[in-house]
Amino acid sequence: MFTIGVLASGKGSNLGAIINHVKSGFLKIKIGVVISDNPDAFALEIARANGIEARYIEPGRYRTILDPEQEKKYVSCLREHGVELVCLAGFMRIIKKPFFDAFEGRIINIHPSLLPSFPGLEAWKQAIDHGVKFSGCTVHFVDQGIDTGPIILQAVVPVLEDDTPERLHLRIQEKEHIIYPLAIKLISEQKIRIEKRRVLIDEY
Ligand code: GAR
Repeated sequence: MFTIGVLASGKGSNLGAIINHVKSGFLKIKIGVVISDNPDAFALEIARANGIEARYIEPGRYRTILDPEQEKKYVSCLREHGVELVCLAGFMRIIKKPFFDAFEGRIINIHPSLLPSFPGLEAWKQAIDHGVKFSGCTVHFVDQGIDTGPIILQAVVPVLEDDTPERLHLRIQEKEHIIYPLAIKLISEQKIRIEKRRVLIDEY
C-alpha cells in the first residue's frame, strides 16, 4: 500500500485529519511513521493513540534547520518505514539538500496562506497585518526555497473585519483539513503531473 511519513512539530490537527480520512476509506494509504523534532508535540500522542509508529528524533543544535547528522537519521527512519511520500504537517524546520536528494519530488507541505503571498512564519498574522480580504491555504511540493515549490491545491478563506489572527488561523485550518488529505489522495493515485511550475491534476 502507498506509504506516507508525516513530520510534525505541534498540535497535529492536520495529522488528525489525514488519519480520519484513512479511517473513512477516503485515503487508501498507510501512515508508516510520524516523526517530530519536539518531544512534547501532541502529534506524537495522536499517532500513538491510533497505533501509528511515532518517533521523536532530536533536531540538534540549530533552531530553524536539522543538524546534518540528525537529518540523516530522519531520512533513515523514513526509509526504514518504506515511506514513498513525506508530508510536512506543521513541521517548523527547513529541509536541506541531503533530505531532498533522498526524497526528490516526494515531499509536500501545507502552508496557511495563498502562496506566493505570506511565506514563512505566522502567515495568518501576516495576512491580517497586510489587510488582505482573502487568505487561505496551499499544499505544495517542497523545493529548496521557503514555501516556493509547485502548488498542488489551494483553498480560499475570507478575512473578516473582526478577525483576530487566532480566529483566522482556525478557519484556515478547517480548509487545510480538507485539501491536505485530498492532495495526498491525488498523489497516491498518480493523478498529478508537473509541467515546469504547473501541477496538473487528472480528473477525479
Ligand atoms: C498549520 O496551520 C500549517 O499550515 C502551519 O502550521 C500549522 C500546523 O498545525 N504550517 C506552517 O506555518 C509552515 N510554514 P497542526 O499542527 O494542527 O497540523
